[in-house]
Amino acid sequence: MKRIGVFTSGGDAPGMNACVRAVVRAAVYHGLEVYGIMRGYSGMIKGEFVRMDSASVANTVQRGGTILKSARSQKFMTKEGRQQAFDQLVNNGIEGLVAIGGNGTFTGATIFEQEFGIPTVGAPGTIDNDLYGTDYTIGYDTAVNTALEAIDKIRDTADSHDRCFFVEVMGRDSGYIAIPCAIGGGAEIVMVPETAMSVEAVIENLQNSYTRHKTSFIVVVAEGEEEGNVHHVARRVKEALPQLDTRVTIVGHIQRGGSPTAADRLLASQLGIAAVEGLMNGMKNVMAGIVDRKLMYTPFDDTIHKRKVINQSFMRMVEILSV
Ligand code: F6P
Repeated sequence: MKRIGVFTSGGDAPGMNACVRAVVRAAVYHGLEVYGIMRGYSGMIKGEFVRMDSASVANTVQRGGTILKSARSQKFMTKEGRQQAFDQLVNNGIEGLVAIGGNGTFTGATIFEQEFGIPTVGAPGTIDNDLYGTDYTIGYDTAVNTALEAIDKIRDTADSHDRCFFVEVMGRDSGYIAIPCAIGGGAEIVMVPETAMSVEAVIENLQNSYTRHKTSFIVVVAEGEEEGNVHHVARRVKEALPQLDTRVTIVGHIQRGGSPTAADRLLASQLGIAAVEGLMNGMKNVMAGIVDRKLMYTPFDDTIHKRKVINQSFMRMVEILSV
């Protein structure tokens, strides 16, 4: 293999740039040519390729977002789109790919390899931390810290006004961001998609806390929570406990931006190098990840179909700590 391409795809995540940098520098170190593919699969279809060298990734390790930009491509989901992407890669002599993204990215890469034989090795780039095959994804640590900082600020005003705040954090179908925010932010309750908690249980918990003379409350609600969205939960609680002065805050896309933490920069750098070395060793359809502090390559099929389980003891911790 002489020439590889690297791209970021799906929702951006802090640390993606550190990973692109590691891929580029590892490629240069090993004597490979490397091209940046702009806007994920969308740019691959259009042939938006940029030759990269060591200098092109200077001063990027600390930057949030992704210098390669990102997109969710509908066209790549069609055979016609993938054919165009393949033609572009062949015309530009690109023989292997490093994909930095999540499940949607790896699903596309798997189909692409089956149809056209272009190998891809992945690095887990998503704030959601919902990928099997790595204990942490690139961007997760930063997103948790961002959300936690927001919750700390909300706590100040909640306390001043004796209010009950419902705070929604990101995570699509997963409570990975919500749980450490609830533990670290001193929340009374956390609601996550993985564990059923009825609004009735939330009401009962808040009623008990109120009876015990607590005056302010934080309820962390993961986006994608099964009881409905944060506004729905807050409305139901207000109906049942009109004595509570309730407010809703959605932390939102703030969680996707910002300078990556040290942990994210380290993880991104490690996995970027591992992805390039995996490709050079003939790997394909695998994601580089860290499991129990060891580098592992997990088949895309597993990262896509196996579910990373939430540690239930963390839910119990929230209950104990809010007593
Ligand atoms: O996958 C990352 C993520 O931020 C999820 O937590 C969230 O559900 C989704 O992306 C939001 O997507 P968009 O940026 O398209 O609104």
